[in-house]
Amino acid sequence: MENKRENFGGRIAVVAALAGSAIGLGSIWRFPYMVGEYGGAAFAVVYILATFIISLPVFISEAVIGRRARASSFSAMSKLRPGHSLWKAAGVLSVAIPLLINSYYCVIGGWSLEYLFKSLGGEFIFYSDADTAVIFNKFISSPFLPLLMHLLFMAACTFVVARGIQFGIEMFSKITIPALFVLVLVVIIYSISLPGAEKGVEYLVKPDFSQITPRSIAYAMGQSFYSLSLGMGAVITYGSYIKKEESIPSAGIWTAISTLFFAVLAAFAVMPAVFAGGMQPGAGPGLIFQSIPYVFSKMGMEHPTLSAIISIVFFLAVVVAAMTSCISLIEVGVSFLKEKFSMGRIRACLVVFLLCGSLGVICSLSFGPLSSFVIRGKIIFEMLDWLTSNILLLVMSLLTVLFVGFAMKREDVYDEFTNGGTKKNSVRIFKGFYFFIKWIAPVAVLTIFITNFIL
Ligand code: PHE
Repeated sequence: MENKRENFGGRIAVVAALAGSAIGLGSIWRFPYMVGEYGGAAFAVVYILATFIISLPVFISEAVIGRRARASSFSAMSKLRPGHSLWKAAGVLSVAIPLLINSYYCVIGGWSLEYLFKSLGGEFIFYSDADTAVIFNKFISSPFLPLLMHLLFMAACTFVVARGIQFGIEMFSKITIPALFVLVLVVIIYSISLPGAEKGVEYLVKPDFSQITPRSIAYAMGQSFYSLSLGMGAVITYGSYIKKEESIPSAGIWTAISTLFFAVLAAFAVMPAVFAGGMQPGAGPGLIFQSIPYVFSKMGMEHPTLSAIISIVFFLAVVVAAMTSCISLIEVGVSFLKEKFSMGRIRACLVVFLLCGSLGVICSLSFGPLSSFVIRGKIIFEMLDWLTSNILLLVMSLLTVLFVGFAMKREDVYDEFTNGGTKKNSVRIFKGFYFFIKWIAPVAVLTIFITNFIL
């Protein structure tokens, strides 16, 4: 059973897949508008620090659990520490959270796909002065088209997962992740060359720390967790496919660096364009779907072909980034179904597709026909985003660090972290890592959790 388990081919594959999971809508859709809403460059600085200081050790902990157990996230903890109901509950959470998150994540994936098609049709050029916000709202609240796009997007991701670890997930990530950087670079060049873009660049390079509030710190930390795919079973699952000879800390560091780098690039692609178009940076979740088409349409009047190409490049990047993350969420469910019900990969993919697909339909309809169904002032889509990103993700991360710090044997953690003492650099930092996970990380995660509740 153990040696039949699929694995990632090598180091590049591991980092590409992990970075694929991490780099997603969180970096290209959420990060730019969070920067705009919660303090500009200062927010970005806190986000970068939080990633290295807090999220990276949590990320490494998840991968350690996954590789040690070589099991799905559902049973990883209870396999390493049998008989405790807390760890069983953590297993259930780690399968339920990705299912929930995936249902709304794919809805945004579907929007991106529609905007890619709109770009391919050269539509933004003709928007001219039309109100892009109205067009966006009309689209997301219509009953049919967003559903179709959502299902199409999910089907494409499920197809990649169905092809397996090496021929699906690994191959797809190895091609798309480097390509993503190139695509975003193209948009940056265009974006900063627009008249008036300097203000956007300045906004991103000159931090104003007076803008930092406890709330923005908590949000920056939350963003960093979300961005590294923590607390959703994804890193545990991918961790279980990492071969024994690979170094987990080094895979973690490279994943964190590429994710940060990408998020910063995405901000540089979006913000200068937003400023050049004379728009507000704090436009919220609709930012890339409203501001970007508006700016492209404005530019389109003078250079229609160029503007059409850039909008294709931009939305292609969004779709691909979203796909690699969605793939990792699907894989969590697939690896659970394969293990628990001995299902074949294809059948497991179909089950996940049906489950997330139907939940996603409800999420999507919550912008239109189901918009009157509101819980605590939030429509279903917003509720799921809030519940998963601000609550469940942190609960799961807390359980993860407590598990590594207190439930796992120290020798086992050491063994995974340092590859049995053979990786000298890892040996050197192990003590610090272990102390951090045991005593500091739980307090840090709890603090973010409480701050989210109070503020
Ligand atoms: N990290 C992804 C993003 O930034 C979101 C995600 C979370 C994906 C958890 C997989 C698992 O978009």
